[in-house]
Amino acid sequence: MDVIIEEINFNDWPFIENEIIEVEKDAFEDEVRFKKEDFENTFKNPLMSGVVVKFNGRIIAYSTGFPEDTNFYIESVAVIKNFQGKGIGKKMLIKFIEIITSKGYKSISMHATSQAMKEIAQKLGFKEVQFINKYVGNRDAWYMIKIL
Ligand SMILES: CC(C)(COP(=O)(O)OP(=O)(O)OC[C@H]1O[C@@H](n2cnc3c(N)ncnc32)[C@H](O)[C@@H]1OP(=O)(O)O)[C@@H](O)C(=O)NCCC(=O)NCCS
Repeated sequence: MDVIIEEINFNDWPFIENEIIEVEKDAFEDEVRFKKEDFENTFKNPLMSGVVVKFNGRIIAYSTGFPEDTNFYIESVAVIKNFQGKGIGKKMLIKFIEIITSKGYKSISMHATSQAMKEIAQKLGFKEVQFINKYVGNRDAWYMIKIL
């Protein structure tokens, strides 16, 4: 599938906000979904970074995160339902990891809240360091770290 992966930063929010919120609504159930205010909070940080995946000019997936000292924390990963299971999430994260690595961070972490996310993260070299019962709503999470 012909998709384009683009890096985004805090300046991009006004241009992508509607599409990102649509991706979020489609990918997540209510209780774990990021709200507009949550995104605004992330994009307020000039050191935030992210990627979007476009298909036919439309955003179908995104991932965002921000630094915590020398670690980069990936706070969200989402692919719209119709495009899940086609390798897009993994491709997007490979690109995001390349970008994060090029900025000189020493490690990358995330809370994987689905089995799919946990398996992708493991395939990309993240190690499970902690299991958190009912991390958001009823969803458990695995806190995972990849040392760069
Ligand atoms: C989780 C998510 C980002 C994965 O993206 P995706 O594009 O569907 O996943 P991919 O097709 O790239 O899958 C990559 C790998 O994960 C594995 N995988 C995918 N879905 C899986 C599932 N439901 N269970 C187990 N493994 C799965 C695949 O086997 C694949 O491995 P391979 O490349 O070796 O064949 C996406 O499904 C999503 O947005 N889900 C809803 C929101 C969510 O849970 N986000 C993560 C919160 S931390």
